[in-house]
Amino acid sequence: MSLTLSRRRFVAGSAALLSAGFFQTGWSRSAPASLPIPALVDGTNGEPINLRIRSGEWSFKPGVRTPTLGLSQDYLGPTIRTRQNSELNLRYRNTLTEGVAIHGHGLHVPGEVDGGPQLEIAPGDQWQPALSIVQPAATCWYHSHTHGKTGHQVYRGLAGMIIIDDEISDSLELPRRYGIDDLPVIIQDRTFDAQGRLAYSLNDAGEDGWLGETVVINGAISPVARVPAGKVRLRLLNGANARFYIVAFADNRPFYKIASDGGFLTAPVPLTAMEMSPGERCEIVVDLTDGNSAELLTLFENEFDDEQGIVSSLLDRFLRSEKPTPQPSLTLLVDSALPAHTARLPEKLATIVRPKKTEIIRTRGFVLDMKDGGGGGHGRNGGHASMDMTINGAAMDMNVINEHVRRGVWERWRIRSNQGAHPFHVHGCSFLIEQMEGAAAPPDQRGWKDTVVLDDDDWSEIVVRFDHLATKQYPYMYHCHILEHEDRGMMGQFTVS
Ligand code: C2O
Ligand code: CU
Ligand code: CU
Repeated sequence: MSLTLSRRRFVAGSAALLSAGFFQTGWSRSAPASLPIPALVDGTNGEPINLRIRSGEWSFKPGVRTPTLGLSQDYLGPTIRTRQNSELNLRYRNTLTEGVAIHGHGLHVPGEVDGGPQLEIAPGDQWQPALSIVQPAATCWYHSHTHGKTGHQVYRGLAGMIIIDDEISDSLELPRRYGIDDLPVIIQDRTFDAQGRLAYSLNDAGEDGWLGETVVINGAISPVARVPAGKVRLRLLNGANARFYIVAFADNRPFYKIASDGGFLTAPVPLTAMEMSPGERCEIVVDLTDGNSAELLTLFENEFDDEQGIVSSLLDRFLRSEKPTPQPSLTLLVDSALPAHTARLPEKLATIVRPKKTEIIRTRGFVLDMKDGGGGGHGRNGGHASMDMTINGAAMDMNVINEHVRRGVWERWRIRSNQGAHPFHVHGCSFLIEQMEGAAAPPDQRGWKDTVVLDDDDWSEIVVRFDHLATKQYPYMYHCHILEHEDRGMMGQFTVS
């Protein structure tokens, strides 16, 4: 379909465009914010980590404070560091006046500690999940998963990063100094009202979900990070409610993708641009040994016009506008006084064993759909409150278990979108993509994943195995990670036994 083509074409065509200088900006920075680095909390010693779910105040725009939510901070939460074969003990305390469920996205843990909507923490209550971390090194995250309110609560700030280490990540020569040459980069977009305060409304979200106008990185607009003149690792998380981004550097410099959602790729994959869907993580390494600062761009994929073709519509946009956009989302400013990581990038990262065909014991199909529920008009910019968002014809019902899966065996899941592009996410596992948008998965999508993109009128196929239990009382979820689609019902529940 057209969207697939345009997506691919953009990635292929971006090199020429970017180097042609269309992104050179006349934008001047009066007082650039520095990149906020969430506190790093060590969870490897088994001591409980206290996470207070609370309200806060945050300045996205200089001088304007807006009400937010956070975990032990005003906006977002700390980065939690854990290790394979260790116990991670979390202690959430909900100090809000509304219920909150917090899910560990990407964690291979049983349903009863997964933090899905069945595990809502009532106001004033505590929830203390004990997590046995058995999976390999990866960048995961935690975020609100409250029934019907996930979009609203994540938008206000209920999200944070989880870093899992293991012996392989210890032994690979990669930048690993948190906040120095190993940076958490949580990409989101936000809309502000006339007073500069956060604006959000599930009912007013368009059919593509709530699309913010301004990119924020760890809660800051166009921040600057001082980094050493060497290799720098970025742990990119698309923490947006609904936006797909194209990530590239303004000078079109190459970078290496080393990890996807569930951990390391088999080898670094060189890229100059890549797509990131909501919920997705990509670890990349960029080389700043040349001492030049690098400007990271996060372009809004959905603003490109399929019909006109990506290249011509981009050209139009930039030729037309007086102030060419976009401004960099994050500037990496080289400070040669900082000790640099200059070792060569490892050629091999991890081993990934795909299941043999004979090991795949069954196939399941999932069809995502959105239809006008008949409650009145909707359009590209109209509300989607009246749309039915379904998977296999049913909207999420807390009292219905949609699928029953056997533990420890491989299955093939074929997932299709009847309308629109959707990032499909599955709890409790990492999976491998066999087909993406109807074609073989590209090299940078061949690692462990927990999100896969489905295009309009197209399908993707994954192979997946669940190693942990999820009961009827505490099932796992599969859903679209456009949070407004999820909140409107594009989600299902399943057990593993
Ligand atoms: Cu990141 Cu069920 O979600
Ligand atoms: Cu999840
Ligand atoms: Cu969706």
